Amino acid sequence: TLTLQENAPGFCSVDGAIESEHAGYTGSGYANTDNESGTAIEWSVVVPEAGLYTLQWRYANGSGDRPADVVINSGQVTGVSMDGTGGWTSYANSDQVVVGLSAGYNTIRLQAGGSSGLANIDRIEI
Ligand code: GCU
Ligand code: CA
Repeated sequence: TLTLQENAPGFCSVDGAIESEHAGYTGSGYANTDNESGTAIEWSVVVPEAGLYTLQWRYANGSGDRPADVVINSGQVTGVSMDGTGGWTSYANSDQVVVGLSAGYNTIRLQAGGSSGLANIDRIEI
């Protein structure tokens, strides 16, 4: 498993801020997107060969379900739900999402489907 934390090589951008207020994250913090529809985190990742890859996010959500769209290379879209975890310091893994990636660089965009923005995102695993 390749684990990319928010400050590691491979991280790209967040529509919001990197924060560390709510304990339980790994690395030095988590991504807190602005609470608006469409706000997103984008990672740029390199994989050795084209094929199907399993993605999963570690997140915290002290609110209701915050569904997200997973957009690969500005094309293929898959949904992933991020249910409430019971509090902002309670982190959990999302469901796994299987996507097709190309050999070399790929853009993985996790985009808020609702007006509350994304859950707080600790990390992506590929
Ligand atoms: C609170 C919490 C943030 C979270 C936000 C939200 O402000 O402290 O970490 O991102 O709620 O509702 O998205
Ligand atoms: Ca937020």
